Amino acid sequence: MSDKLILGCGYLGRRVTRLWRAAGHRVFATTRCPAKAEELRRMGLEPILADVLEPHSLEALPPVSSLVFCVGLDRSAGVPMRRVYVEGLANVLAELARSGSSPDRFLYVSSTGVYGQGDGTEVDETAVTEPTDESGRIVLEAERLLRERWPDAIILRFAGLYGPGRLIGARGLSNGEPLTGDPRRWLNLIHVEDGAAAVLAAEERGRPGESYNVGDGHPVARQDFFTCLAGLLGVAPPVFRGHGEEERGNRRIGNRRLREELGLRLRYPSYAEGLPASLAAEES
Ligand SMILES: NC(=O)c1ccc[n+]([C@@H]2O[C@H](COP(=O)([O-])OP(=O)(O)OC[C@H]3O[C@@H](n4cnc5c(N)ncnc54)[C@H](OP(=O)(O)O)[C@@H]3O)[C@@H](O)[C@H]2O)c1
Repeated sequence: MSDKLILGCGYLGRRVTRLWRAAGHRVFATTRCPAKAEELRRMGLEPILADVLEPHSLEALPPVSSLVFCVGLDRSAGVPMRRVYVEGLANVLAELARSGSSPDRFLYVSSTGVYGQGDGTEVDETAVTEPTDESGRIVLEAERLLRERWPDAIILRFAGLYGPGRLIGARGLSNGEPLTGDPRRWLNLIHVEDGAAAVLAAEERGRPGESYNVGDGHPVARQDFFTCLAGLLGVAPPVFRGHGEEERGNRRIGNRRLREELGLRLRYPSYAEGLPASLAAEES
């Protein structure tokens, strides 16, 4: 049993805390919002009011054996992404240096957006990182800052998270709206429950200083994904329009390290298992 801390207890973070709690650990979780703090307490967590953009608030972070950095962009806050991802991370690293607190494990939730490949190739963790869009460049800057200041940190490059309550495109499909973007472009996904299990596998078996792709290893063409989703929802198949305009990267994310080094066995090896399970969970 040891103490854990999650910075950013949102869609993914909550699942991570559930797994830690189930294993009997003491779990601290940050939030910026007092009402959410009460909710976290009811979940058996020890809430800490902290904002990565407010260095003083970070003085409340407790010393722990494992820290997971899982802060996402809160669009409603109106703060530029770079401030949250780069300056926010720098503030946390500065606070750890100031307090002398040094978790044995520092896990950083990053994104496969750091890869810029646009030709549909398969990319593993050794692939070049030359993101073509602004958000990818910001996440890469955060990764580099972390590597410089905390070389042993483990970086987890997440593909798109999906699961109950996060079925991208479901509302639009149900409303009969066309989808934008190229139907042939690859989607790289990971079910949120598998994503949380990946964080714990990396905590247990990840190599210090290593990066791991966290995807299910079954990229799917958008056309196939949304056709499957429409079928499950019982609505008309998707119509795509406007592709070619503002396309982001197009690649297939390989997950060999996740499976072989971290030994993760996916509960939802692809959308074919994950989508119906997610819809069933939403309905229950
Ligand atoms: N969603 C995806 O498909 C996807 C794909 C690749 C990578 N990722 C990465 O995975 C991570 C988690 O994603 P998610 O979908 O679980 O995110 P999420 O549900 O939006 O949760 C992110 C959490 O960040 C916290 N947060 C936001 N601004 C903050 C700030 N200034 N200071 C402290 N905490 C702050 C929020 O907590 P409070 O509101 O309680 O303060 C929120 O609970 C993110 O880093 C994201 O970039 C996500």
